[in-house]
Amino acid sequence: MVKVTVCGAAGGIGQPLSLLLKLNQQVSELSLYDVVNANGVAADLSHICSPAKVTGYQPSSKEDKDTIHKALVNSDLVVIPAGVPRKPGMTRGDLFNINASIIRDIVASIGKACPKAAILIISNPVNSTVPIAAEVLKKLGVFNPKKLFGVTTLDSVRAETFLGELIKETPSSLKGQISVIGGHSGDTIVPLVHATALVAKKVSGLSKSQYDEFIHRVQFGGDEVVKAKNGAGSATLSMAYAGYRFAEKVIGSLNGQSENSEIPDSSYIYLPGVPNGKELSQKHLKNAEFFSVPVILENGQIKSFVNPFDKLNVSSEESKLVDVALDGLQKSIDQGTSFVTGSK
Ligand code: NAI
Repeated sequence: MVKVTVCGAAGGIGQPLSLLLKLNQQVSELSLYDVVNANGVAADLSHICSPAKVTGYQPSSKEDKDTIHKALVNSDLVVIPAGVPRKPGMTRGDLFNINASIIRDIVASIGKACPKAAILIISNPVNSTVPIAAEVLKKLGVFNPKKLFGVTTLDSVRAETFLGELIKETPSSLKGQISVIGGHSGDTIVPLVHATALVAKKVSGLSKSQYDEFIHRVQFGGDEVVKAKNGAGSATLSMAYAGYRFAEKVIGSLNGQSENSEIPDSSYIYLPGVPNGKELSQKHLKNAEFFSVPVILENGQIKSFVNPFDKLNVSSEESKLVDVALDGLQKSIDQGTSFVTGSK
C-alpha cells in the first residue's frame, strides 16, 4: 500500500487528480496539501468508500513549514500541480517567475521530509521546473534522478486523440503505439508516429498539411483550452486524467506490477542519472541533460527507457523536430538550473 501526497490539491488539476487517486485501491493514505481549501477538499473526498485515508493539510501562515512537513512525511509518491496556470496570450515560460519559487520550496520540503519519494512535477514550465527540482535535491544531497519525473503525459494523450481522429482509429488503441518525446512546451514537444508499421502506414496516407496540422495541434493543443476557458485557466480535467495515468503506473510499480506496453508513456527526466541516459544524450541530443523519453519503471523508479533512435523509427521530419526542440529546451533548462544555483 502506498502513501501519496498531492501538493496543490485544491486547484483545478489538484481536485480531480485527488479524486482519481482516492479511487485507486492501492493507495492507503492520501495526503492533500494546499495553501487554500485543502481541508475542505479532504473532507469531501474522505466520504468516498475506498481504502485511502484522506487528510488535508493547510499552512496557518507563509512561515508555517511544519504543516507541509507533516503532509509529506512517509510519502512514497508526491505529485505537484501547485502554482499558477496560463491565461490567454501567455506561454508556459511566462509562469516561471511565480512557479519557480513555489516548486523550489515544495521540493526542498520533500527533500527533508520524504527524500526517498518519487516526485511527479506537473507545474509549468515543466521544462524548467524539473531542473529546479533536481538542483534543489542536489543541494540537499538527496537527488535520485530515477525518482524525479516531469509529467508530459498530456502530450501523449493529445497525440493519441488527435491522430486517432485523423487516421480513423480509436484513440485509446494508439496508446503504446505512438510516443511523444522532448519537452513540454510548444515546439519542444516531438510526437513520434512511425514506431509501428500499422500506424506508420496510416500516417503515410495523410497529406503533408494534415500531418503538419497534427504536429502543431499536439505542440500547441494547450492553447485551445486556454483560449476556450477565456481567462479561467488551462487544461485541468484532461490534465488530471493524464497525471493520474502516469501516477497510476508509479503506484503499480511500487506494488511490484510491471508494464506490458511496448512503448510506455514518456517522462521528462535527468538523462545522465539513468542507465544509458548519458550515452543517448551524447549521441543524439547534443548533450541535453533533461529530455522526455518513454520510461520503464520498477519499484517507483526508472529502471530503463526505450531509446527512440533505436526502437521508434524516428523519421527525417521527426529528427528535424528533435533539433528544434533541443534549442528551445536548453534555454529553459539553463533558466531553471541557474535559478537555484544563483540563489542563496
Ligand atoms: P490552479 O490555480 O487551479 O491550482 C493551483 C493550486 O496550487 C491552487 O489551489 C493554489 O492554492 C495552489 N498553490 C499555490 N501555491 C502553492 C504552494 N506554495 N503550495 C501548495 N499549493 C499551492 O492551477 P491548475 O490549473 O491546477 O494548474 C496548476 C499547474 O499545472 C500550473 O502551473 C499549470 O500551468 C500546470 N499544468 C501542467 C500541465 C502539464 O501537462 N504538465 C497541463 C496543465 C497545467
